[in-house]
Amino acid sequence: MKKRILTGDRPSGKLHLGHFVGSLANRVKLQDEYDQYILIADVQALTDSYENPTKVADSVRDLVLDYIAAGIDPSKSTIVLQSQVPAIAELTIFYLNMVSLNRVLRNPTVKAEIEQKGFGDSVPAGFAMYPVSQAADITAFEANLVPVGEDQLPMIEQTREIVRKFNGLYGQTLVEPDSLISEFPRLVGLDGKAKMSKSLGNCIYLSDSVEEVDRKVKSMYTDPTRLKPTDLGHVEGNPVFVYHDAFNPNRQEVEDLKNRYRHGQVGDVEVKQKLVAAVNNFLEPMRKRRAELEANPDKIDEILRNGIEKGRTVSNEVLMKVKKAMKIDYDFMEYKSKESR
Ligand code: TRP
Repeated sequence: MKKRILTGDRPSGKLHLGHFVGSLANRVKLQDEYDQYILIADVQALTDSYENPTKVADSVRDLVLDYIAAGIDPSKSTIVLQSQVPAIAELTIFYLNMVSLNRVLRNPTVKAEIEQKGFGDSVPAGFAMYPVSQAADITAFEANLVPVGEDQLPMIEQTREIVRKFNGLYGQTLVEPDSLISEFPRLVGLDGKAKMSKSLGNCIYLSDSVEEVDRKVKSMYTDPTRLKPTDLGHVEGNPVFVYHDAFNPNRQEVEDLKNRYRHGQVGDVEVKQKLVAAVNNFLEPMRKRRAELEANPDKIDEILRNGIEKGRTVSNEVLMKVKKAMKIDYDFMEYKSKESR
């Protein structure tokens, strides 16, 4: 039997090349080897965006479009919309008994986010507890592996602790997941900042048009020490060359450009023109898949419907086991439903 993997995204806007390099490419690869679940974590998104539910709801379909465009195949990967799977919420409630308040507040990622979001003294309880609901996400699907970036490691650690505590108290019930650290580096932003990020406004989106790519690449930062094309240039860490390395499959062209750049024999204009072409080639098959799905919006509903159905089935089985372990698998209502037949 194939091992099961689970990943998740908060629906909070469209995906960009940084997401592709950092996780989507990996998921496209993993879906052949593994039984893959991808969770659209709208309930988790609401823990910090509860004042803006429209943004969250509208992002759900965008996310499905981005997934399919990127090469996720719904016949291989199950896309599950979190809010439509009530077992996850029930499991969260039970797991809250397995962690101390101090332990959740010590989670380094949560701590950093609380700081960054400026919650101050009024941290919403739901937000502070989201790692517990993430443990429910992971265990509800009996995931063996969770591919994550560094920042999500504390969530997996927390999940493992909850699983061990639960199994220790009530007997072997839950599957303990391992993390699969993604070896993919962060993609620098167009402005050379460490990370491509929507809030920094330095992104190329998977849904960008040919013209947008052209405009954005032409605005990219290059080597700040190089004032004219005849100056000797630096290639390492230079965003245009980082992108050439990531998206231009023509290695010979890239090596030639690097060589001439180092020797002051090529201008930014040529380097960028070739990058525009490379990024647009890279995005072209995605544009095709997106256009197909956009022309057939019922298909998006169908993908979501199928994923929810499968997600409910799998997670309800886990929920039954958990309730049994916790001695709350009463059958009062079963009797009633028999009577009314
Ligand atoms: N916390 C993850 C993020 O912000 C999203 C997420 C929700 C997730 N549930 C998950 C990731 C389960 C992995 C497994 O990116």
